[in-house]
Amino acid sequence: MLVGGEGTRLRPLTYGTPKPMVPIVNVPFLARTMERLFTAGIRDVILAAGYMPQAIVDYLGDGSRLGMKVTYAIEDTPLGTAGALKNVEPHITGPFFVLNGDILTSLDLPAMREYHECKGGIGALHLIRVDDPSPFGCVVHDANGKVSAFIEKPPKGEEPTNEINAGTYLLEREILDFIPAGRKVSIEHETFPQVIAAGKALYAYTTDDYWLDLGRPEQYLAAHRDILSGTMPLLVELGITGEGREALLGHPGVVPPVHAAGDVVVDASARVGPNVVLGSGCSIGAGAVIRESVLWDRVSVGSGAVIEQAILASRVTVGPKAQIGAGSVVGHDFSIEPGAMIEPASRLGSPG
Ligand code: GTP
Repeated sequence: MLVGGEGTRLRPLTYGTPKPMVPIVNVPFLARTMERLFTAGIRDVILAAGYMPQAIVDYLGDGSRLGMKVTYAIEDTPLGTAGALKNVEPHITGPFFVLNGDILTSLDLPAMREYHECKGGIGALHLIRVDDPSPFGCVVHDANGKVSAFIEKPPKGEEPTNEINAGTYLLEREILDFIPAGRKVSIEHETFPQVIAAGKALYAYTTDDYWLDLGRPEQYLAAHRDILSGTMPLLVELGITGEGREALLGHPGVVPPVHAAGDVVVDASARVGPNVVLGSGCSIGAGAVIRESVLWDRVSVGSGAVIEQAILASRVTVGPKAQIGAGSVVGHDFSIEPGAMIEPASRLGSPG
């Protein structure tokens, strides 16, 4: 699993938390992915990390808590999406899945493995169809699924296909021979095109699964909306859920779906929801309004504050009557003054 990126587009959230540890409905995203791997029968996971690796190591350890074996390969300088694989070559003994660590998907990994075993070739790439492929890597293939070209971020209107690289691969060990050691190498830009040029067969595995790249704040909020509404099948129950649900059931101002971790305190006159996630220890004051937003642990919202379509990291304090404009992201420990009017799409917080 590739988890070495700095997650610059998710700043300021990623100043204090590496992207894999960013919570998705109150659980670190990495834990959700590990669960998916476990369900698929995978027990041996190598994490190619680099940015804030200690937070990941502290959380997962050797993996035994999850009944899995976790090995870390920590890059001093980023090696890129293929260099990271070359770097773990000694640990790889046979065919292996590669997962971009920031993809939320319902992809069935065992089914992808069956497909690869049936097709043969040096690897299978998961593709997904999207309405606008221009921001992504387009993958062109023939009717038999054999890939012939990779076109990264084509100009709008000139896309050769609407099928894009969805960031999960199943590869034979032989592909590592195509990756030079000791330097940064991109699998999308360098390795895959070279593999094809060498006449090796890569097959497209196109599915209609739920798929979302969690790279940007809008996508992070969309992921929560999709999980809370059941579009992305991840929660067992829908409605008012989570350890803190007892505090919200029967509350006149709570509009589901809402997920709350433990120890949340919501004033009787506050309005929360729809599509709101409250982390553990959050407190919401009298008359405050929170819609379409994700609050991490121990966020304190003063009376009369209004928060819409925003992401607030751990321990943020929102003063009474402050208003946070839609699309804003507030980093760890940040304090918003009473009565402040925060412009839409603001990014508040610093690396310190
Ligand atoms: P941005 O800085 O916002 O673009 O995010 P990012 O750094 O995560 O980059 P991107 O979304 O393009 O990366 C896709 C996946 O590859 C993510 O899971 C990253 O953690 C991972 N990744 C990107 N570059 C490297 C790298 O040099 N080494 C490792 N090990 N993983 C990487």
